[in-house]
Amino acid sequence: MSRTRCLQLFAPLLLLLSAAANDVFAPRYTAAGELVLPAEYREWVYLSSGLDMSYTEAASKRGHSVFDNVFVDPAAWASFKQSGHWPDKTIFVMENRGAATHGSINKHGFYQTEDFMGLEFHVRDEARFPGGWGFFVSNGAEPAKLLPTAAPCYACHKANGAVDSTFTQFYPTAKPIAVKAGTFPAAGKR
Ligand code: HEC
Repeated sequence: MSRTRCLQLFAPLLLLLSAAANDVFAPRYTAAGELVLPAEYREWVYLSSGLDMSYTEAASKRGHSVFDNVFVDPAAWASFKQSGHWPDKTIFVMENRGAATHGSINKHGFYQTEDFMGLEFHVRDEARFPGGWGFFVSNGAEPAKLLPTAAPCYACHKANGAVDSTFTQFYPTAKPIAVKAGTFPAAGKR
């Protein structure tokens, strides 16, 4: 079979498959409007880890260190690479984990521990949320609870998130894509 003929035959099939793949990653909700936990988020696209990130000058009073690990669903990442925008149905997961310094052979610096400290979600669902995006939190066992629009998540992300209210400025492989696509702000939020 010629290459062109082969493409003619299989292109619609590939399109169907990719549409089905996108559906696999679309957010699902319980009857109560909670977000069903995406079980495989650890196999999604890894964007970055923050260590003890804080948004005030005052030192943390937590007394222990925390890592946050950010992942995004593969369908959203594929679309972002084309457009520099996070598409409708994007799911970001932020996993919080304890940090330790003394263990095994380690004497300095921090590594992540099995101390799991919950999940946070940032979900784009234009038909569902007034501003297009919803924030959720979960203990990792139960479905994630939607936070009201008065929660500080919405205001900080809207005011400071560089691309579509997400903190793409802190994601080293995503930021250059947005810069190239022209969706990264020239000034202001960044
Ligand atoms: C004062 C500002 C601020 C507030 C308030 C805030 N965040 Fe964020 N958020 C950030 C920053 C900065 C990052 C980037 C973290 C990194 O680089 O690891 C982030 C990243 C995230 C991400 C990863 C996806 C993205 O949008 O970049 C999620 C999910 C998230 N936050 C959820 C929440 C939730 C849920 C709340 C409310 C309970 C919240 N955030 C409140 C500043 C904020």
